[in-house]
Amino acid sequence: MASIYLDNAATSHPRPRPVVEAVSGYLNELGASPGRSGHRPSLESGRLVLETRELAADFFGASSVENVIFTANVTGALNIALKGYLRPGDHVLTTRFEHNAVLRPLHRLKEERNIEIDYFPVDSGGSIEREDFEQLLREDTSLVVINHASNVTGAVLDILPLSEWCGEYNLPLMVDAAQSAGSLDFPWDKLDAQFLCFTGHKGLMGPPGTGGMIIDPEMVERTKSFIEGGTGSKSDKLTQPQVLPDKYEAGTMNTAGIAGLNAAFKYLADEGLEQIIEKKKRLTEKLCRGMEDIPGIEVLGPGPGERRTSTVSITWSDGDTAELSVKLDREYDIMTRSGLHCAPLAHRELGTYPRGALRFSTGHFNSGDDIDRTLAAIKEILG
Ligand SMILES: Cc1ncc(COP(=O)(O)O)c(C=O)c1O
Repeated sequence: MASIYLDNAATSHPRPRPVVEAVSGYLNELGASPGRSGHRPSLESGRLVLETRELAADFFGASSVENVIFTANVTGALNIALKGYLRPGDHVLTTRFEHNAVLRPLHRLKEERNIEIDYFPVDSGGSIEREDFEQLLREDTSLVVINHASNVTGAVLDILPLSEWCGEYNLPLMVDAAQSAGSLDFPWDKLDAQFLCFTGHKGLMGPPGTGGMIIDPEMVERTKSFIEGGTGSKSDKLTQPQVLPDKYEAGTMNTAGIAGLNAAFKYLADEGLEQIIEKKKRLTEKLCRGMEDIPGIEVLGPGPGERRTSTVSITWSDGDTAELSVKLDREYDIMTRSGLHCAPLAHRELGTYPRGALRFSTGHFNSGDDIDRTLAAIKEILG
């Protein structure tokens, strides 16, 4: 029997065929570094990167292509944005549902730049109360950072009203869209985020090693470059060019990955994002309902019918979910993820720290049969 991969919130698998072919096509046939040399393969690689920026700009509703910055993943984008933007003593508002990709840079900045951090509450369905947010605002608040969808519970956070409140207070908003890009039908063009950070290898179904950020032009002056190095532009200067995207993109790019990301954006458009999301939604609902019928299992986060991504995490009253995860893998060939999911504060908030929970995350290539087999396997293990 075929194995069942239910760890798509970590990274999507398998990748769509055109994505795999684009990566190997680039490596086999093009190979050259973009934006460095004048020969044809280099120029063609440059065009491929530019076209991918255009696809990303279209997908996220960015106003200009130069503002799409490519990074190795969303962690890279968040590090550039947080460390480049925040100044000593700044006050930051965020939530306890952030991934370590946000928590750890913030923690380091707290130690090294004395930034101060406050966390506003988010309910299990992802709602944020304006009053809670406003209560924590200070004169020196300079940034709001939030993930769009929890990688632990699958709850979709209410970032549209938050972006409006931030606008009213003239506060920049940084969004970690790791779990939502490609996984939610969301009106990106209505979101007023000054830093929109995404990863290419989860819901977008691109290759690992891809991601980026869309930076508001008004943030560029204050947000310092993160690494300095070759850009193929202004090579006579010893300082990093300040033009975009070069300011934040030093060194040879992951062009093979970007070729795959290019194919992934086209795949989403060709297949229809709505249909892709609808299918994952059906599978997730089936999984949630099935879990709720199993005695001893509790599904974390949004209740039935409430908005969630295709992530479903459970606890097991009679035992250790890590053990359950190992059994599912070794005895049933079903891949899941147990533990803290790099989100320790979320687990503290949910009362599941330090043991964590067991996460199932469906993807575009899962079937209803995969869900039936998974539920049957859990029932069998639990006796
Ligand atoms: C909410 C969230 N933020 C950040 C990340 C980090 O993603 P990446 O490893 O692609 O940088 C993840 C991935 O696990 C995530 O779920």
